[in-house]
Amino acid sequence: MRRWTLRGATTSYVVGVPDHQQWAQLLAWGPHGVEDGPSNLSPTGRLDFLTEADTEPLEYAVRGVRYANPTELVVSGPAGSDESRPVFVDSVEGNGTLDLIFVDPLTSLRLILHYRMLAQLDVVERWVSIHNDGETELTLHHHDSAAFVVPTDNGAVIRYLWGEWNSEFQQASVSMRRGRFTIDSRQGITGHSYSPFLSVADTRDPAGTTWGVQLAWSGSWQLSADVDTMGQTRIQTGRLPSTLGLTLEAGSSWVSPVAVGACSAEGSDGLARSFHAYQRSLAGERLELTRKVVYNSWYATKFDVRADQQLELARRAVRAGVETFVVDDGWFTGRTDSTSGLGDWEVDPAAFPNGLTAFIADLGDLGLDFGLWVEPESVNPGSELAAKHPEWILRTEDREPLQVRNQLLLDLSREDVAGWIWETLDRLLSSYDISYLKWDANRARLDAGEVRGRDLDGSVVANLYRILERLRTDHPGVFVEGCASGGGRVDLGMAARVDTLWPSDNTAPLDRLRIQRGFLSGYSPHLMSSWVTDEAGTVDGRERSLDFRFHLAMSGGLGIGGDLTNWSDEQLTAAAGHVAQYREIRNVVALGNVYWLGEGTTVGLQYVGADRAVVFLWDTGDLAVRASMPTRARRVPLVGLDPTKNYRVGEEVHPGSYLIRVGVPDPRGGATDSSCWVVTAVD
Ligand code: GLA
Repeated sequence: MRRWTLRGATTSYVVGVPDHQQWAQLLAWGPHGVEDGPSNLSPTGRLDFLTEADTEPLEYAVRGVRYANPTELVVSGPAGSDESRPVFVDSVEGNGTLDLIFVDPLTSLRLILHYRMLAQLDVVERWVSIHNDGETELTLHHHDSAAFVVPTDNGAVIRYLWGEWNSEFQQASVSMRRGRFTIDSRQGITGHSYSPFLSVADTRDPAGTTWGVQLAWSGSWQLSADVDTMGQTRIQTGRLPSTLGLTLEAGSSWVSPVAVGACSAEGSDGLARSFHAYQRSLAGERLELTRKVVYNSWYATKFDVRADQQLELARRAVRAGVETFVVDDGWFTGRTDSTSGLGDWEVDPAAFPNGLTAFIADLGDLGLDFGLWVEPESVNPGSELAAKHPEWILRTEDREPLQVRNQLLLDLSREDVAGWIWETLDRLLSSYDISYLKWDANRARLDAGEVRGRDLDGSVVANLYRILERLRTDHPGVFVEGCASGGGRVDLGMAARVDTLWPSDNTAPLDRLRIQRGFLSGYSPHLMSSWVTDEAGTVDGRERSLDFRFHLAMSGGLGIGGDLTNWSDEQLTAAAGHVAQYREIRNVVALGNVYWLGEGTTVGLQYVGADRAVVFLWDTGDLAVRASMPTRARRVPLVGLDPTKNYRVGEEVHPGSYLIRVGVPDPRGGATDSSCWVVTAVD
């Protein structure tokens, strides 16, 4: 057996190729040390009624090598057979990278398994490239990015995130002794229904070592966990196969999106920290951009955008300490409601009688930067664009396309459409002083346009990524927020290409807390845009204080979205206090290690930064008992502090040992329903 070890900060990933060279298999994946002895993944015992390939922990199973158990690749050639038998021919090792190359002489298929594990992180990136080195076309029927095998001796606890519009990122789990669990998106966009993220732990120790996989793809995808009788779970992920198959022309190649596996000995919270660190690495130097406090007028004015009324909001936003004023939907010609305007990206003179430049200058006089909402992938059927370029609308020939939110999609697989979207954005960003762009996408790609042979999902996502990347190179000063009817496009692909993401249109305090909890289980706080609004809950409608709403938004990228014309002087002053505190702590929130605190009705978050920790506590309310009798002065224990040091927490100074054992005051039973503490070492 040849073996290769990839080493991360605290975990290792070890693969081997047996002497027969028919596949690669996992030898070990887990905290350092797992690689220091015999593999606990290979089967033992008699091999009756099955093939060896069906029982070994194959890294990437091909139909033709394995039959009974899950496969990641199914390819057919001109003969019509759907079998292929690529044999190991070579390996290429780099700094933290590994390529394992397999070739099938019969189909001329070359399959490369790609690996990358960075020494300072705990994730392994995996993807495949598939090359047709022959002279006749091949068809890909199933083409996962990777499979990850994890040991689950007693069955698997599978955790995942589900939701719908306004209720994204709901945490859920299933326990399985045997069986298959699948989540996916068939919508041409990441989707609200499930997040492309799944984690697995052993049912006997659900808080123990946890493995998780995310997929870097913003189109259709699938992720599944297959729990077998041998005590292992196979996690497979990749792009959703097209029902018509993908054609791989002679001489051409296909590259899968990256699947990212992580393992943490610190349970699902630790797994979240590994993914956060990875997502920060994707952001690179853009993490250094100041995460300015935003005001967005959508909730206040909806489609009724007028310069004077926006400026009135802006004057109040300044009093609250806001730094960037974002005009949402409704600023462009014909956009009076959701039925019209999309596609015609010209400033509406009725909304801005003196022009947008004058409006931006007025904001500048108030000390505010300017941001703008766009939804470039969609078009309303009655727009000028739709009349001028009917051929740009994505549709199945001879069928009437379905409208969703009164809109249709442009065919972003077309180079002319991609070019037009880029030029439209470039024109807006070059003509006006715009420092913030909210890119929305409110229509999934449902009925549209599959044609045999072409890779619609692949080309649409590739063009989307290309435009987002070009925004960064050509307009590096523009901070980009990704949105898709709330959190409909949150994934690693977007995390690498936008600066922040809008998790949900639901901004009500108790609903939002649950959504943010789910979001942070897979995605980093630097990506979590969050606004203080006046909205009531749609799931949990109980009221919470303005402090509660602020602390919630301050635990991500703080924005304000309430109708400030209705806010009292006291509320604006309180807002200014919170914004001032946020500006002090925003780097700790964006970059700190995240720990969940508290239990029962108090929910808390601690962000541990290099020099300080920030603690948020929210009293979610005890529905059974009202606090009309005396209660205990409860405190919430902290984590990640040095027990031998003293720390200042507000007016109090305590040893780390006390804060770890007893902690900071629990807002439960106190005068407010939330608190924010900055914890700083003294002496
Ligand atoms: C979507 C977004 C909202 C808002 C509206 C505007 O619903 O999620 O934040 O921008 O579109 O139409």
